[in-house]
Amino acid sequence: MQKKILDLIKKKNKSKIVSLTAYSKNVASIIDKYCDIVLVGDSLGSVLYNFSSTKKVTLDMMIEHSKSVRMGIKKSLMVVDMPYGTYKNPNEALKNAKKIISKTKCDAIKLEGGKKVVQIIKTLIKNKIPVMGHLGVLPQSAKNFKFKGKEIAERKIILRDSKLLEDAGVFSIVLECVESSLAKEITKTVKVPTIGIGASVHCDGQVLVTDDLIGLNKINARFVKRYSNIEKQINDAALKFKKDVVTSKFPTKKHSY
Ligand code: KIV
Repeated sequence: MQKKILDLIKKKNKSKIVSLTAYSKNVASIIDKYCDIVLVGDSLGSVLYNFSSTKKVTLDMMIEHSKSVRMGIKKSLMVVDMPYGTYKNPNEALKNAKKIISKTKCDAIKLEGGKKVVQIIKTLIKNKIPVMGHLGVLPQSAKNFKFKGKEIAERKIILRDSKLLEDAGVFSIVLECVESSLAKEITKTVKVPTIGIGASVHCDGQVLVTDDLIGLNKINARFVKRYSNIEKQINDAALKFKKDVVTSKFPTKKHSY
């Protein structure tokens, strides 16, 4: 296993894991300094392209954005989401994961699901492709975005799936919108780190979509904490630029040849 991945696993029960998404070089190069994991999430479908679901995200879109992100990362582990429909069976998954890794030079891939994807995960890992799991709300197949783990039967399935993913060899598991006490139980049960998004402080780490964090994407999910208002800064800058252009204050001699 790669050193970066071993180091990440060793963080469990020692220090929290920090993860954010990036879809471009410029953002990746800023967040890289603070992250353990930079995720090229297929959330880019809704965040950048206004798709109603991540189902429309293609392999080529993920590859092009990931190539840009790669240029901005010096130290973090770079994980790329396998988009919907690219891991229907072990052979297709292997072909597509190899393509993602060879074109983007990412360190690992992430895919969604429990028992249904165990064989796929085993095949990828047998072929030396590190895999991050994703349980709880699964945006690629979700009918709604209600948190998971309220009903006993659902809790049992998610807990079982976390053990299956661990046994299959994933190096980490994202828990999306999982009820707090279930996230705590899973985190105690599995030896690999859990990374929560809307899954409580009990997880071994946290991930957020950077555009949500900085106020560039307007979603009203409970799990989002807005740390900055970049929209306001862009507004202010664009307004100042407009004023300078219409009053011929820009460009000055300094900005001319
Ligand atoms: O696509 C994504 O950004 C994700 C995170 C929300 C975990 O999967």
